Amino acid sequence: MQQRTQVAIIGGGPAGLLLSHMLHLGGIKSVVLERQTKAYVLKRIRAGVLEYGSVKLLRNAGLGERLDREGHVHDGCFIVWQDREPLLVSTKEHAGKPMWSHGQTAITEELYRVRERDGGSIVEEADNVRLHDIDGAAPKVTYDWNGESRTLSCDFIAGCDGFHGVSRRSIPASLVRTFERAYPFGWLGIMSETPPVGEVIYARHARGFALASLRNPMLSRYYIQCSLDSDIAEWPDERFWDELKQRFPPGIAEKIVTGPSIEKSIAPLRSFVAEPMRYGRLFLAGDAAHIVPPTGAKGLNLAISDVFYLQRALIEHFRNGDDQYLDSYSDMALRRVWGAVRLSWQLTKLLHVFPDEDAFESRIKASEFDYLQASPKAQAALAEQYAGLPFEE
Ligand code: APR
Ligand code: PHB
Repeated sequence: MQQRTQVAIIGGGPAGLLLSHMLHLGGIKSVVLERQTKAYVLKRIRAGVLEYGSVKLLRNAGLGERLDREGHVHDGCFIVWQDREPLLVSTKEHAGKPMWSHGQTAITEELYRVRERDGGSIVEEADNVRLHDIDGAAPKVTYDWNGESRTLSCDFIAGCDGFHGVSRRSIPASLVRTFERAYPFGWLGIMSETPPVGEVIYARHARGFALASLRNPMLSRYYIQCSLDSDIAEWPDERFWDELKQRFPPGIAEKIVTGPSIEKSIAPLRSFVAEPMRYGRLFLAGDAAHIVPPTGAKGLNLAISDVFYLQRALIEHFRNGDDQYLDSYSDMALRRVWGAVRLSWQLTKLLHVFPDEDAFESRIKASEFDYLQASPKAQAALAEQYAGLPFEE
């Protein structure tokens, strides 16, 4: 079967779906090719903190209603350090922007809802997706669906297929440069139907990092730093709660309401950037081009800012024949990406106990926390970055 569209979007995660929706608002046709089923995509549990800029963009795209109804607004986040006083990193005070707790799953559900309402084309279980002629004027994507081979011709391809997708790998290796850091630990996360502590709290403790977060008034999300060879089976709920509470100061630990976990998983931590984010008529967005460790919760926010730049560029091309934004897409997106890569790397280093960390490094880190605690200017610098840098005009 032969099909044609203006933009072929590989991947139906938040980046691909949001791009498809925003292109639709701009009068541009797209087809989303997703390898998994919708049910599978919606089962994945990911981070849940949105920058004010992401919230504004989602509202402007008509996706604000559920966000405003269910999202939880915070003045910023807390950092707690062993037995020292907790530090509020106030994005509201220092950057004039609050933060939102709202799960990626809820956003993806909303995106599916509006794409389906608007008659959007999302092909689930698209198998064996291959990109062709991306360096020419008439690119194509082939894939298998329900045993049938299909060809989708298009003007542009958006590679929104995450870190393990096919898009980035379709660029000749000699034309992409990658930058990478793997961290020597992972995060063991659980979701539980218990009332959350109510704030996003990053904790550094001699036993390792921990994080308290939330989805809604009856859904809590917690993480602890774990070794890379940890096995989930070694972490029954009781052991997890016990370890988590030890890593928070007593005043916070006593507020943690425990209960059975409804999800438990281990994720490795990695920083990764591929440059450039364009090859011919292929444009990468979201995790397909970059990964950040979850410390700082920037992954989803970066996917959203990439999509903002990319939809603007594509709309300018189709409406006005102006390619200025297409040509600057990669540079513009990468400036924001590196800002977030740097912040999440810095927070990851500060808050985790590295296996080879010696007493000297631990003291340096404690001193960095003390400096943050004492200096409103240092807090302002961190808050500005945590709040998210503005999108470029
Ligand atoms: N063909 C079609 N689809 C594919 C392929 C492929 N070969 N490979 C991967 N996909 C799909 C995946 O099944 C997934 O649904 O692409 C989608 C990519 O979605 P995400 O991994 O969620 O990436 P993205 O949309 O960029 O969103 C970034 O997700 O990982 C988090 O922290 C990250 O919050 C950030 C957000
Ligand atoms: C989450 O709520 O899942 C979360 C919050 C903050 C982070 C990472 C994850 O930095």
